Amino acid sequence: MLSWMFFFRLLQIPKFVSALTYNISTCYYIITEEFHHEGDVVVGAFFPLHTFYTEKKMPHKTVPYQYLDNRIQYNFKNYKYILALQFAIEEINRNPNLLPNTSLGFDFYNVRFTEKYTLDNAFIWLTALVNRKYFPNYNCKKRNFTAALTGTSWITSAQIGTLLQLFKFPQITFGPYDPLLSDHGQYPSLYQMAPKDTSLSLAIVSLIAHFRWSWVGLILPDDHKGNKIVSDFREEMERKGICLAFVKMIPATWTSHFAKFWEHMDETNVTIVYGDVDSLEGVIRNIEQRLLTQNVWIMNIEHHVIDRADYFMLDTFHGSLIFKHSYRENFEFTKFIKTVNPKKYPEDIYLPKLWHLFFKCSFADINCNVLDNCQTNASLDVFPRHIFDVAMNEESSSIYNGVYAVAHSLHEMRLQELQMQPYENGKGIVFFPWQLNRFLKDTEVKDKRCLDWKQTIDTEYDILNLWNLPKGLGLKVKIGSFSANAPQGQQLSLSEQMIQWPEIFSEIPQSVCSESCEPGFRKVTLEGKAICCYKCTPCGDNEISNETDVYQCVKCPEGHFANTERNNCFQKSVIFLAYEDPLGMALASIALCLSSLTVFVIGIFVKHRDTPIVKANNRALSYILLLTLTFCFLCSLNFIGQPNTATCILQQTTFAVTFTMALATVLAKAITVVLAFKVSFPGKIVRWLMLSRGPNYIIPICTLIQLLICGIWMATSPPFIDEDAHTEYGQIIILCNKGSAVAFHSVLGYLCFLALGSYTMAFLSRNLPDTFNESKYLSFSMLVFFCVWVTFLPVYHSTKGKIMVAMEVFSILASSTALLAFIFGPKCYIILLRPENNSFTHIRKKTYSRRKNFPKI
Ligand SMILES: *[C@@H]1O[C@H](CO)[C@@H](O)[C@H](O)[C@H]1NC(C)=O
Ligand SMILES: *[C@@H]1O[C@H](CO)[C@@H](O)[C@H](O)[C@H]1NC(C)=O
Ligand SMILES: *[C@@H]1O[C@H](CO)[C@@H](O)[C@H](O)[C@H]1NC(C)=O
Ligand SMILES: *[C@@H]1O[C@H](CO)[C@@H](O)[C@H](O)[C@H]1NC(C)=O
Ligand SMILES: *[C@@H]1O[C@H](CO)[C@@H](O)[C@H](O)[C@H]1NC(C)=O
Ligand SMILES: *[C@@H]1O[C@H](CO)[C@@H](O)[C@H](O)[C@H]1NC(C)=O
Repeated sequence: MLSWMFFFRLLQIPKFVSALTYNISTCYYIITEEFHHEGDVVVGAFFPLHTFYTEKKMPHKTVPYQYLDNRIQYNFKNYKYILALQFAIEEINRNPNLLPNTSLGFDFYNVRFTEKYTLDNAFIWLTALVNRKYFPNYNCKKRNFTAALTGTSWITSAQIGTLLQLFKFPQITFGPYDPLLSDHGQYPSLYQMAPKDTSLSLAIVSLIAHFRWSWVGLILPDDHKGNKIVSDFREEMERKGICLAFVKMIPATWTSHFAKFWEHMDETNVTIVYGDVDSLEGVIRNIEQRLLTQNVWIMNIEHHVIDRADYFMLDTFHGSLIFKHSYRENFEFTKFIKTVNPKKYPEDIYLPKLWHLFFKCSFADINCNVLDNCQTNASLDVFPRHIFDVAMNEESSSIYNGVYAVAHSLHEMRLQELQMQPYENGKGIVFFPWQLNRFLKDTEVKDKRCLDWKQTIDTEYDILNLWNLPKGLGLKVKIGSFSANAPQGQQLSLSEQMIQWPEIFSEIPQSVCSESCEPGFRKVTLEGKAICCYKCTPCGDNEISNETDVYQCVKCPEGHFANTERNNCFQKSVIFLAYEDPLGMALASIALCLSSLTVFVIGIFVKHRDTPIVKANNRALSYILLLTLTFCFLCSLNFIGQPNTATCILQQTTFAVTFTMALATVLAKAITVVLAFKVSFPGKIVRWLMLSRGPNYIIPICTLIQLLICGIWMATSPPFIDEDAHTEYGQIIILCNKGSAVAFHSVLGYLCFLALGSYTMAFLSRNLPDTFNESKYLSFSMLVFFCVWVTFLPVYHSTKGKIMVAMEVFSILASSTALLAFIFGPKCYIILLRPENNSFTHIRKKTYSRRKNFPKI
């Protein structure tokens, strides 16, 4: 429904356009510079409502100006100023409690933007002269002047002010607040109705911060206000980390040919346009013509949506955000506007033109006063909003308030007069305008206490969104507000889903110099650039950033590691050779199997203890060796599972001791064989050894030496639990530190020394003629043992963590297996599979045949 209405209104636009361009009666161009609305006391109103294109051909001093062709231009939007004035005056005149028995009227004078004509009109008004002839210091018509209402630009007010201040004539300005005009030395009787823009920069910057825009442009006039606000903006923006990509100050002499102005305009997606309509009109028109549609414009002025329609559908300012002071809606004013027509106010010089233009009336008489053939429903409120907006705006509101201020002051003055001269009652007011100043000053003070006719609140802003697509729609929709007095964080309220952004943006626009740095990165500011321009570099090793846009990454705490995205620290997992680990499980089961196998071999030996093969090779030593080997296999289990200090110490000592015992037993066996057959040894020693059962001492002695080494090791620098957090990424390796590498290598060296010793002994006796001579097997097992541990060392030192431990376990198992397999394998084979070879008769036969071939030594 709504959209149909818009469409309907759009269809009407071309009619207005053609009306503007063709066949317009000459009455339309006949205009005077002033008109008067009678009253006992009058307010002077100086508004800019029409102007002329060229001044050369403009007739001088003749009223009315006639036949000026198209050179006259009406600014019908400002007609609302007259309406606001009219409305306020009627309201006051109707009010029996305010200025009873005195009617208020006004004298309207047009303001053109040249000092000469502005002052001309002001002067004419003051002297109230006839036929535009000046009589300075005379009030020819004896009109009861009260005050002058001037605006909209501060220049107009200042120009008129220089004249009025000579007489201390009260002047009320309704244009935007201007600090220059508040100089009471220069303008002692000038009162500004517009609220100060104290928090506008804060409001705009809050909005910008809300949308996380950090790279914005700023366009503003190069005047005292522009210079003030630019420093305000800089301050607020610095606080919020927003940067200005460019600041374009528009000099008074600005022209669109100023090519440098248009540079860098496309660097941002958001541009603030701050100023007043008068100083920015040229720029805004140019921006509009250039169709700079890739920008969200944030403005403090309600720029006039299309004065001239054209055939582009796109409007540069579609999607703009406009900040304006917040007003309570005045429905009475809207009602009043409906009642306005040329008949009601015959003195008004603009209404007939409006009616002629928009309602197709024709002028019926030569005086251009009577209208004919108008549409019956003609009234100002049927106009599309972009042509005429019936709602009160900031200026009309100021005018309304200004008139009330005057009325209240007059009322006060009258009351005071009556108190002093009670008999004068009923005679009407007689006063000089300057007498009003005292009361106006008071009302100015009272304003702050918010009189009911004063609706402005300085710190409240409405945020409007301009919907102008298709062009001509011209809706200004309130999408939020800013209230500086609200608590921090609640100042800005927005209905974001209502906002229509410029067509080019499919979502909420972005305006940043550099994309924000994701977690895992940090900002690095670029030298010589604004702080909003930076690059993102990844966090360093083991450092993270878990938020966007950080300047500094943080180190992960001890025992934690940074993930590859560098946005989170994780607890490192602990690794060691566990039983659950396939490798650990395999090694442990192998160790258990082998030790069971050894126990099994013990069983076989015990069962066949009386067979020659068992008896032949020192049964006791075999038992000891087998038992020791069982422990050798079992001691490898110490290495598997989570290490603690006890297992660390146990690992090394049990390993050292069991292996020493095993090797010592082998040595003892080898020596026994050598002793039994080698007679080349010095007889005495041999005999002593035989008698003293020397070989039996070898085991305890060798073991004691190893125990001594271990003792020294444990006493000086025992193995301890160590954590290696750096070798493997994201993991902590728990391992036993050997404590002393020298000790560890001494233990290994001692073992290898024993192995070599055994090997030598066994090698010496390898060819001795005995059926069950195991020397060959002993030497072979020692060789394998030696090889295993010699290869172990380099491999051990080149691996880390679990594998390193597994390597050690593997070496233990391999060397023990070598002993078991080479020394006991052949025997078990004979015992179990060749029992016929394991009988005394066979042995005797064999021994005999062999001995025949060998010389007796
Ligand atoms: C202009 O208006 C007059 C009547 O006011 C009419 O007769 C004439 O045809 C119009 N001219 C154009 C060009 O529309
Ligand atoms: C006003 O009345 C005319 C006919 O007199 C009609 O064509 C037009 O649509 C009406 N306008 C509005 C806004 O009602
Ligand atoms: C207004 O005028 C009437 C008569 O003209 C008079 O009776 C009345 O007192 C006056 N009121 C005031 C407030 O001056
Ligand atoms: C000025 O005010 C007096 C008293 O109110 C009144 O009699 C007189 O008519 C007024 N003058 C004009 C020009 O309205
Ligand atoms: C402006 O918006 C466009 C499209 O959304 C985007 O690609 C570009 O990066 C934005 N420019 C800036 C300065 O943010
Ligand atoms: C970032 O990390 C800090 C400490 O590591 C933590 O306190 C904070 O909650 C984290 N922030 C986010 C958004 O995860």
